[in-house]
Amino acid sequence: METLESVLTRRSAPRLAAPAPNDLELLALVEAAMSAPDHGRLLPWRLVSLRGGERERLGRRLAAGAGDDAQARARAAAKPLRAPLLVAIVLSPVEHPKIPRWEQLAAATAVVSTLSLLLHDRGYASIWRTGPATEDAGVRTLHGLGAGEQLLGWLYVGTASGATPPRPRSDPGRYLTALSGLGSGAAGEGGE
Ligand SMILES: Cc1cc2nc3c(=O)[nH]c(=O)nc-3n(C[C@H](O)[C@H](O)[C@H](O)COP(=O)(O)O)c2cc1C
Repeated sequence: METLESVLTRRSAPRLAAPAPNDLELLALVEAAMSAPDHGRLLPWRLVSLRGGERERLGRRLAAGAGDDAQARARAAAKPLRAPLLVAIVLSPVEHPKIPRWEQLAAATAVVSTLSLLLHDRGYASIWRTGPATEDAGVRTLHGLGAGEQLLGWLYVGTASGATPPRPRSDPGRYLTALSGLGSGAAGEGGE
């Protein structure tokens, strides 16, 4: 697939079925995704794969944090079963004199973005899912999070089931402007 076609046709897929990439395939794709831009090459992230019964363990934790309502607990428990493979995304920031945390977060998200494109390129699909459960102490413990780490959610991975509609078009001209088009007074006139 051409890069442009791959970028344009990738969609988040809420309904995912088997197959998902096996461990070796996933490792190769993660290796490729590690080429994403990363200031200082700090690699301030790590990924944790969950398959089969591991997803059920996560489901039990989500249910435990879902309150007393039986239906809400059942819904929470079923969430990780929406894909055959979940890849938890963990930000592992490091102290650095020149590279602040936000840049490290940007590097981590670039890896996830690249990985989702590579998965699409291989015929798989994915969706990044987040939510308050990422802050849950039990969920953090389950993923082995250290004190300074942050769970950024899970990339749900598998094969798209059902048609994925094309992405609605956006107007790029609203998001890209030339500095000279901003008008006087903008961009620090009279400054440096
Ligand atoms: C950081 C991040 C968090 C997201 N969290 C969720 C989520 O919790 N639930 C969900 O349905 N989609 C989530 N998404 C997927 C977006 O909804 C999706 O990317 C968006 O609708 C655009 O669709 P597309 O990826 O097909 O272009 C998330 C995406 C990102 C980048």
